[in-house]
Amino acid sequence: MPDRKRLCFRSDYFGDRAAWLAFAGLLEDIFGIDVTVLDRLGGPDPTSVPFAWFDGAGRCIANITAFSLPLVVDGTFVRAAGLQSGAVRPEHRGRGLYRDVMEAALRHCDAEGFEAVALLTDTPDLYRRYGFRALAQHRFTGSAPAGGRAGPLRRLDIGSEADMTLLGRLLDGRRPVSDRFAPLRQKEMFLFNAALTPDIRLDLMEEANAVIAWQIGEDGGFELLDIVGAHIPRLADILASLRIAPPRVTVRFAPDHLGWAGTAVPDADDMVLMLRAAESLLPKQPFALPPTAGF
Ligand SMILES: CC(C)(COP(=O)(O)OP(=O)(O)OC[C@H]1O[C@@H](n2cnc3c(N)ncnc32)[C@H](O)[C@@H]1OP(=O)(O)O)[C@@H](O)C(=O)NCCC(=O)NCCS
Repeated sequence: MPDRKRLCFRSDYFGDRAAWLAFAGLLEDIFGIDVTVLDRLGGPDPTSVPFAWFDGAGRCIANITAFSLPLVVDGTFVRAAGLQSGAVRPEHRGRGLYRDVMEAALRHCDAEGFEAVALLTDTPDLYRRYGFRALAQHRFTGSAPAGGRAGPLRRLDIGSEADMTLLGRLLDGRRPVSDRFAPLRQKEMFLFNAALTPDIRLDLMEEANAVIAWQIGEDGGFELLDIVGAHIPRLADILASLRIAPPRVTVRFAPDHLGWAGTAVPDADDMVLMLRAAESLLPKQPFALPPTAGF
């Protein structure tokens, strides 16, 4: 094993404020992402277990974080974990530090009995050696359904504490947005992604008590990102309630609960979803992880 003498290996350290800020510094330097935004959204996912190397000055120099990511896949509950925030500072690369933290994280996932481990990456080759397989994701496009019933609607404000509390409650009790493939919860990542997506609109359908996360797509059409509620409204009712009649609709998850079937188009995104799981647990039909659940 290469020399690790001046380094300190730590896991499960998010409760240590200085270490959390050192971790935030690593992600800011490598990805330009400020995870301290989570501090005002209730903190990171409480199931997070980070694995990291720190240097003598307390800088976090290598990290990967495992977290619980319960999924529904083809109608079946899958006890899955996710891996996120994988990075090594440039001056420490090529010494096997990433391998150390990855192996520790995977040992943890296996010991905890997770049936599947998921990650998103733009370098899938890095993960094949650990048993991860790339899964194709799709978008679902088509013309807008007509004849929906319009109900009352209210736009939520990400800056409003009351609105975010309401959204948090709905995230806690949500129905998975698709039975083909969807996270069961993912509250913290939803709030974080929403806070970092300037064009996202969060509209509460007050009768259905469901939040519609959407944006105007690159083609100028309606792009449905996610739906948060105990009940998933039909796409026709969503559009009627939003009082829009877009030329095209794109749905960023399998639309099996929407009363509408688009055409599945392979996603050209650079980020590849990978899963380390038995063949029998892989989704059989086109699907996508909603962007609001991206990690
Ligand atoms: C990717 C990254 C974490 C690798 O860190 P590292 O410290 O150089 O990794 P290690 O030294 O532990 O290398 C582990 C193995 O991965 C291989 N590897 C490293 N980068 C790779 C890449 N981009 N593609 C494929 N394999 C890669 C190494 O060759 C090594 O293989 P070996 O075990 O057969 O020798 C680091 O380059 C980084 O932080 N990059 C920017 C952020 C990033 O891309 N994070 C991962 C995105 S999900």
